[in-house]
Amino acid sequence: MSSSPAATSAVPTAPFVVVANRLPVDRIQLEDGSTDWRTSPGGLVTALQPVMRKNHGAWVGWHGAADEELEPFVDAGIQLMPVALSSQEVEEYYEGFSNATLWPLYHDVVAHPEFHREWWDSYVTVNQRFADLTATVAEQGAVVWVQDYQLQLVPQMLRAQRPDLKIGFFLHIPFPPTELYQQLPWRNQILEGLLGADLVGFQLPGGAQNFLRLVRQRLQYPTHRERISMPGGRTVTARAYPISIDTQGMADLANAPATVARAEEIRRDLGDPKYVFLGVDRLDYTKGLPERVQAFGELVSDGTIDPEEAVFVQVATPSRERVDHYRRLRDDIDRLVGRFNGDIGRIGRPPITYLHSSYPKEEMAALYRAADVMVVTPLRDGMNLVAKEYVACRTDEDGALVLSEFAGAAKELRQAYLVNPYDIDGMKAQLLQAMNDSPRSKIRRMRMLRRQVFENDIDRWATLFLNDLGSPASAARAG
Ligand code: F6P
Repeated sequence: MSSSPAATSAVPTAPFVVVANRLPVDRIQLEDGSTDWRTSPGGLVTALQPVMRKNHGAWVGWHGAADEELEPFVDAGIQLMPVALSSQEVEEYYEGFSNATLWPLYHDVVAHPEFHREWWDSYVTVNQRFADLTATVAEQGAVVWVQDYQLQLVPQMLRAQRPDLKIGFFLHIPFPPTELYQQLPWRNQILEGLLGADLVGFQLPGGAQNFLRLVRQRLQYPTHRERISMPGGRTVTARAYPISIDTQGMADLANAPATVARAEEIRRDLGDPKYVFLGVDRLDYTKGLPERVQAFGELVSDGTIDPEEAVFVQVATPSRERVDHYRRLRDDIDRLVGRFNGDIGRIGRPPITYLHSSYPKEEMAALYRAADVMVVTPLRDGMNLVAKEYVACRTDEDGALVLSEFAGAAKELRQAYLVNPYDIDGMKAQLLQAMNDSPRSKIRRMRMLRRQVFENDIDRWATLFLNDLGSPASAARAG
């Protein structure tokens, strides 16, 4: 919990600054009607909290409400620097350019990206606002780490004002193949924006290679392996850093007696079926929800899976609800789940339990513990941390992970039951395989998956990135 935002005259400065679209806090309503802030459950905050505390770090980001100016405030020992957005900017920069242009374009155009010049103008204006505030917050020679697709122009805008800074950028979503990226009317501006950083990080080597190829083709800057030679003699590095989770923290949570008890209760509430399948996603069209529901629904309706024996629980967290594609997806899923349950369910036992809601991480850990088969089948995903969380929570070494080949996590989690989510029959076969595999085979797979996520946790991710950036913040963190 934090002190409430208090008016300050001078802007606080810091030697380490994270810049992200959102601040790492959620506003909560207290019983007496007042509001306060609670640290968001996200992995990035968990990873960076120790670095931030040790280095008196600051976090620049939007607090999530339109038309509201907040003064800087401190939460959980981190200096927070709110960036204000007007409702028009929320519409044009956030819902528009970030989530209706870049998001679908970077996810293999699984939905049609919209290109609007006024959205671009707003993206430029807001990126400039983030850069300007960061320039006033960062101390001389500070390390600045910019996050994700909403802020791709910030590195260049910041460098123009503050050449003394060390600037890192990390893209959490896929960087698309060159043929798709080229559709973007502002393709060169965004490449130049990213090249303001000293180090540009991607989830996968393929993303870094796409970026390097575009830099050569479109901007004619020479590259050698991962390095780009910029005019004026500066060098930029583009490299993959697959993000991860707080593995030990998740495992501890899964082992807590309250979680174990809750997992048993969930299974009881579901009617003690032999098999529980689980999906957990933001309600996003990249996540492949209709294909997954179709595959499971067909297995039940064609008699391969007995609905007395198996249930599917799908948690879909509400997301970007004012963006058209998201609104339509919500209706489609409602209809599809309703149709299957209507056709194949019976009183008190729907084969698919659909929860359009978000839950605290204690409840998620209990769900992971309760699930025999975790189904993570996005059409395209930068990484997918749900897959890693499930593995971290299977401290019993039981359980099976069905994972899309098109999730970044599939490059690391090779022992999962891999599927092409566009291939409904192939997906049905793998769901069955995961359900019916021998306990020996499941344990062998799960052990290897667990080794992977324990060796490569979020701490290692942040340390590798900051070391490569040459950040003194990383040394302070290890000490
Ligand atoms: O990388 C994906 C991402 O945009 C993150 O930056 C963010 O935490 C998450 O999806 C949720 O998105 P939003 O901030 O649009 O709710």
